[in-house]
Amino acid sequence: MTENSLRTDYFDKSWQRTSLCGEFGPEDAGKEVRANGWVRARRDLGGIIFLEVWDHTGPIQVVFNPEAGDIHEQAGNLRSEYCIAVKGRLRIRPDGTENPALKTGSVEIVASDLLVLSPSLPLPFEVGDETDKVDENLRLTYRYLDLRREKMQRNLRTRSQINAFTRRYLGDHDFVELETPMLTKATPEGARDYLVPSRVNPGTFYALPQSPQLFKQMLMVSGFDRYYQIARCFRDEDLRADRQPEFTQVDLEMSYVVEDDVMELIEGYMKGLFKEILDVDIPTPFQRMPYWEAMDRFGSDKPDLRVSLELCDVAPVFASASFEPFRKVLEAGGVVRALRLPGGATLSRKELMDLESRAKKFGASGLANFLYKDGELKGPLVKFLTAEDLLKLRELAKLEDGDALFLLADASRAKACTILGVLRLELGKTRGFFNEGEGADAWRFLWVTRFPLFEWSDEEKRWVAMHHPFTSPVLEEGDLMERDPGKALARAYDCVLNGNEVGGGSIRIHDPEVQARLFKCLGISPEEAKRRFGFFLNALSYGTPPHGGLALGVDRLVMLLCGGQSIRDVMAFPKTQKAQCLLSQAPDAVEQARLDELRLAVIPSDEE
Ligand code: AMO
Repeated sequence: MTENSLRTDYFDKSWQRTSLCGEFGPEDAGKEVRANGWVRARRDLGGIIFLEVWDHTGPIQVVFNPEAGDIHEQAGNLRSEYCIAVKGRLRIRPDGTENPALKTGSVEIVASDLLVLSPSLPLPFEVGDETDKVDENLRLTYRYLDLRREKMQRNLRTRSQINAFTRRYLGDHDFVELETPMLTKATPEGARDYLVPSRVNPGTFYALPQSPQLFKQMLMVSGFDRYYQIARCFRDEDLRADRQPEFTQVDLEMSYVVEDDVMELIEGYMKGLFKEILDVDIPTPFQRMPYWEAMDRFGSDKPDLRVSLELCDVAPVFASASFEPFRKVLEAGGVVRALRLPGGATLSRKELMDLESRAKKFGASGLANFLYKDGELKGPLVKFLTAEDLLKLRELAKLEDGDALFLLADASRAKACTILGVLRLELGKTRGFFNEGEGADAWRFLWVTRFPLFEWSDEEKRWVAMHHPFTSPVLEEGDLMERDPGKALARAYDCVLNGNEVGGGSIRIHDPEVQARLFKCLGISPEEAKRRFGFFLNALSYGTPPHGGLALGVDRLVMLLCGGQSIRDVMAFPKTQKAQCLLSQAPDAVEQARLDELRLAVIPSDEE
């Protein structure tokens, strides 16, 4: 019989599975059963054909004896990933042939009938291979096959469980699930908007939402005092492993609350979620830390607390020392910060130079070092320091014999800390200062609070909102945002887990006057504010309750709960680093007629 003559009758009730493949068990032994699934492995042993038929619950072994006639011959023609239905009798496997590695390893189906539901072309990669060795672009091109793999099934099913938990938890806490528009006006979250041209209103564009921020705040004005949405967001930004152009947030907002209320709600959520998904008891409340403390100690606004190294401030040593480059940086208002590496005195010259070039790659002008060996500090800067300075340095940095100390001076405190923060993570992980932890200890949650209200944009030559421009300033600071914008703080908080920002939010501005002041600080004129956000500012003028909220990055959270390295592995159809969908070949050119109807013209690039 040729491959073409495989039986492919239609599928009806009489072929429908009596159990999922991975759920056949000894209790069904002796019964007539049916299985539906994909052919994963075929072995031919002395004329007897063994197939593994697979679905997301796992495989079941099916045996075709030569006496079965036609279907035995057909089984010989089956290839990997053919979709089939089999009928047969379930039996306990003969002694010595059990496979304890499989859930169904004590049973098998002795086939009495076979139906090929659908053959498969030769595969672009081995679907059963769980090694992740396959090129990711190939996986994304054939995503439907990639998703058939056990790991991807597990990830996406966990994602669904997490969404179900979210709905249950927030529903139990009186949150109302509401949808906000996808075709809307720009919501500034710091990225570029994806624009959608309007056919009915030629020359105008919708923006896809970077987040539901403005709409959820208006829902507070409307009296939906606890809102949530599992919301799709769109941001045209440079992609990394933890960023996608479209991604999902658990977006929520609450009226009549302060920071504590939002944080406690999220702590309860995480506690319940980790219990349900991983059976781990996360301790609450989470540690809280103001932004500048996180920067000063860990060199990051999302510190990974599993790394034990910390930075320190060594300015007092260099303020009066004869090492001019550092003194000058300090005189101009800059900083000198240091990272202590216990046991680092054994680093070779080459390793020290490599570290310096890493620091330079991130923008440092240099990376000085001291090695503390046999009670003596060594290093290129020793000659510029007095014995007293050296003692002070040892004390400030808490140096012990055998340690290395890396120093960095920069006009910007945030930049100096950030570069040392990157080295902290790298050295921590490579030199044994990383404690992965077990059980609940493996999950280091942290709230980072009191972010700066603004950051300076060199590109735009103006202050921009660090979070978004609807975040409330710390009002106790009076007019600090006008007097010294760089120092003003925001009532913003980020939820950090093992060095990942899994969520961010803030208490909002609910007073249109404060909102107008903030726009002014951002260099947004009243006319521009009215044009861009007039509808929103109007809404704030009709009795707005104080409110605040937060959005969790669902993809990042699912990735962490699944133990993955990339959010692409927990999204069904993600895009590449170039924001392309390799499966559907989007984005794509469109016909001229479509452009004409939208009154759009495409300007050819130079190469074209
Ligand atoms: P924010 O911009 O901090 O806040 O986003 C909230 C969370 O969403 C996740 N996230 C992303 N995940 C994947 N790909 C991306 N490109 C991406 N960008 C952000 C992160 C982040 O912590 N409207 C505010 C929330 C609020 O103030 O309530 C907002 O969107 O995990």
